[in-house]
Amino acid sequence: MNYQVIIPAAGSGKRMGAGYNKLLMNLAGRPIILHTLDVFEKDSSCSRIILVIHSDDDSFFAEIQSHYTKIHIVYGGSERQYSVYNGLKAAETEGIILVHDGARPFIRPETISHLVQSASECGAAIAAVPVKDTIKKVIDFEVIETVDRSSLWQVQTPQAFRFSVLQSAHEQAQKEQFLGTDEASLVEKNGHVVKIVESDYDNIKLTTPEDLYFAEAIINKRNQ
Ligand code: CTP
Ligand code: MG
Repeated sequence: MNYQVIIPAAGSGKRMGAGYNKLLMNLAGRPIILHTLDVFEKDSSCSRIILVIHSDDDSFFAEIQSHYTKIHIVYGGSERQYSVYNGLKAAETEGIILVHDGARPFIRPETISHLVQSASECGAAIAAVPVKDTIKKVIDFEVIETVDRSSLWQVQTPQAFRFSVLQSAHEQAQKEQFLGTDEASLVEKNGHVVKIVESDYDNIKLTTPEDLYFAEAIINKRNQ
């Protein structure tokens, strides 16, 4: 089943601390964002990549666009949610749409196809892994309680939706000025069911400098 994907890439990478967009940093000889784009460019079910960028990175993306056939570039906003919303306005208004962070280069094609399948059946499906650590609720460095982790999942991207489900959730959030940390939270708030597709622990988001070491290790492992 075909799908389109919005890739938010318009952040500034503050926590990475490079002084420029972390997605332009090198990983195994190529900018991080190219690793992510390649997964979707190579997937024959992906009909369109809506790449959301910051105008500071114009010249970089103008250069790379010619090497890809599916990329459609739009500008982002001050928050990730606004960047995704701008991407949504450039999308085909039917079928399945995915949102996937540019900062997660290790997503597997099998997970993408499970998400597309689940979203076509249920309207909304997100990649996630069970929480491995013991989680405690803490206030002022004092433990309040140990949370039962048996029902806790750590959420990733891609997140997949029927187009109408994602569009109405974003429009409602705009109206209510609600800012969520992912697309699913907007969809949940709109009263729609969201299904989990079990993903992999190595589908990491490159956020802080040590994530680059983990990323090199994942690439080495996959190249073995
Ligand atoms: N993003 C975006 N528009 C924004 C903020 C973030 O498109 N206004 C994108 C980032 O480029 C990234 C993804 O959303 O691919 C996830 O965001 P995050 O990992 O937080 O990246 P940054 O916002 O760039 O990093 P930081 O929060 O450390 O500044
Ligand atoms: Mg951010």
